[in-house]
Amino acid sequence: MKIGILGAGRVGTAVARQAVRAGHTVRIATGKPASEIKLLTEVIVPGATAVDRDQLRGSDLIVVAVPLHKYRSIDASVLQGHVVIDTMNYWAPVDGVMEEFEGGRSTSEVIAEFLGDVRAVKTLNHIGYGDIEVDSHPAGAPNRRALAVAGDDAQAKAVVSAFVDSLGYDAVDAGPLSAGKTFENGTEIFNGRHTAEQVRALLDTCQKVLAEV
Ligand SMILES: NC(=O)c1ccc[n+]([C@@H]2O[C@H](COP(=O)([O-])OP(=O)(O)OC[C@H]3O[C@@H](n4cnc5c(N)ncnc54)[C@H](OP(=O)(O)O)[C@@H]3O)[C@@H](O)[C@H]2O)c1
Repeated sequence: MKIGILGAGRVGTAVARQAVRAGHTVRIATGKPASEIKLLTEVIVPGATAVDRDQLRGSDLIVVAVPLHKYRSIDASVLQGHVVIDTMNYWAPVDGVMEEFEGGRSTSEVIAEFLGDVRAVKTLNHIGYGDIEVDSHPAGAPNRRALAVAGDDAQAKAVVSAFVDSLGYDAVDAGPLSAGKTFENGTEIFNGRHTAEQVRALLDTCQKVLAEV
């Protein structure tokens, strides 16, 4: 796959490295010109190419890994029409209190509305950047770690699930984008390492609790 990464920080570079290892073509960008992250990319993500953000267009999917409090500075025009993975988490002590994320919706619903015409999928938010490479295992490995995947577009979710599998994780369908809140900061899924079976059981429990609220 042609993978675009927006954000060359901890998460962006870790996902990019793992994606290169999986054999994908990886382009990585920030809000700055490519020249400013060229050296960083060569050293930290060998095999990936630093590009201007415009050059992420045409990717099979684009991973957004920007601090949430900066989401309004994202150039959404680059993402239009694409499958977009939202890895971002809201944590008020770091991001500051942001009213739009205090209302009980999944943060990814708010992000998707801001981004516009994108097929947004939430995943990779509930794995530490330092774990992305070390917890990876081939498909079928016993106790392989699983990651939840939420989105409203079934085809986009299928593309993202194949990507997650290529990174070394079972992908578990968590339902629509609104169900992303079941694996956001503070939830049991967010806080631990789980197999697919465990993620499914935790999603069931969360969804029952949410239905009762
Ligand atoms: N840390 C974790 O283990 C972890 C795990 C899962 C998910 N997350 C979530 O992932 C997100 C990113 O976290 P991180 O730890 O990777 O952050 P980080 O290390 O601070 O890196 C953020 C990156 O985003 C870039 N950036 C900032 N504004 C941008 C914009 N408008 N357009 C394009 N790029 C922009 C920054 O570039 P400049 O330096 O040039 O500004 C930097 O390369 C957060 O929402 C976090 O909650 C974190």
